[in-house]
Amino acid sequence: MYFYKCLLILAVVSASCAQIRLEDASNIHLGLESVFQAQNLELGFPTHQERERALREGLYNPDSVIPIDVDVYYKHGDKTPSIFVTIPRFGKGVPYSLAYVTNEAKPNGTELMAYPSYDWHKTHGADCNGLTSVYRTQIDECGRMWILDSGEIDFVQHCAPQIYAIDLESGKVVHHYRMPQRLYKVGVSRFVTPTIDLDAHNCDVGFVYMADSIGDGIVVYDVAKQQSWRIENKYTFPHPDFGTFTIAGESFQLWDGTVALTLTPHALGTRRMLYFHSLSSDWQIAIPLQVVNNASNWKLNDVSAALDQFRVLGKRGSQCVAAAMSETGTLLCGLVQPSSILGWNIATPYKQENLVMLVEDEERLQFVSGLKIVRNHEGKEELWVLSNRLQKAFGAGLNFKETNYRIQKCGVHELLSGKACY
Ligand SMILES: *[C@@H]1O[C@H](CO)[C@@H](O)[C@H](O)[C@H]1NC(C)=O
Ligand SMILES: *[C@@H]1O[C@H](CO)[C@@H](O)[C@H](O)[C@H]1NC(C)=O
Repeated sequence: MYFYKCLLILAVVSASCAQIRLEDASNIHLGLESVFQAQNLELGFPTHQERERALREGLYNPDSVIPIDVDVYYKHGDKTPSIFVTIPRFGKGVPYSLAYVTNEAKPNGTELMAYPSYDWHKTHGADCNGLTSVYRTQIDECGRMWILDSGEIDFVQHCAPQIYAIDLESGKVVHHYRMPQRLYKVGVSRFVTPTIDLDAHNCDVGFVYMADSIGDGIVVYDVAKQQSWRIENKYTFPHPDFGTFTIAGESFQLWDGTVALTLTPHALGTRRMLYFHSLSSDWQIAIPLQVVNNASNWKLNDVSAALDQFRVLGKRGSQCVAAAMSETGTLLCGLVQPSSILGWNIATPYKQENLVMLVEDEERLQFVSGLKIVRNHEGKEELWVLSNRLQKAFGAGLNFKETNYRIQKCGVHELLSGKACY
């Protein structure tokens, strides 16, 4: 039996496939395992009256709720995880911005419910202690969900961007930070991705890194010192050659800077780096974490600060959306063209022969805006992927008769060694 392992050809956006002989036919990689699929998001409400009110007042438009991120948490010993989804408020009509997947099957897909509760979302930006708009979250290794709230709806900055950490076992808020105004640009900034760095040995949080995709920068937050600073230069910006996205034959424009931030795993024992990339770019960039974490290197509005410390590791020939790092130091990202999961071992040069398309699937992996590596109840790493059809949502419109949203998963070890996802 054969299966194809494809290497990405840089610049020419196409694939060259090498045949690999496998010992055991049952080991063929058939793609990711489907967990959730929906034609549209089915949003549950606390009461029927509240749903009717939201519809009537234009606070809920079923055609404009688009999921972006997925996050997953295995409570102690539980085999069945809790699955969370973000629904950013790109515009009006999104009744809540963070939700969890219930067991309730509905005509368009399984029903979602607001998280932490409906009350957190219901003022649509009027109450800055609630959540205004959430693009992505990160659940850390100590069971805390870090929620990055952009504070804006359609670029109207209702509230300062903020970060909440909620302990998922107790449901309690364990950390809260509001960004000082000098670090974001009103009417421009959009904070989309938080990355958390814990101490190597305990649950102390060292730093939180936040990607401002439209404001083209990175905000670094030193949790112990309650201090933050901004990094912005040519590397955090988009690139004109990659402003057009083509997915399954349809094109649309996105002009976004830094979208994904990942870190060298502590366990590798090597010099730690911050790996990042812009959404509208094909550059993979890295900078030593020690430089990023030192506030005195970063003067506000200084586009040449520590510039010699940034390294363009390579160019992949297409855009990557979300990214995550495995414990063994493989950086995974959702490649746009062709729609696939791209893997790169950070110990190797960022060159075409080391960039491996682990799964390619134009139908089931379209715009991979959510990608996480989480530990399951047995401590094994799992990849979780959320894909949507942003090219349609931002283009001619979604067709609600087809599957628009998918959550899929695979064991990381299985994925990297070409075995079937369990
Ligand atoms: C399913 O989605 C369509 C498209 O948004 C919407 O018109 C319809 O009301 C939804 N069905 C239910 C039961 O919510
Ligand atoms: C931080 O950077 C400054 C230079 O900008 C340097 O003098 C200092 O030693 C650095 N501190 C640490 C702890 O690395």
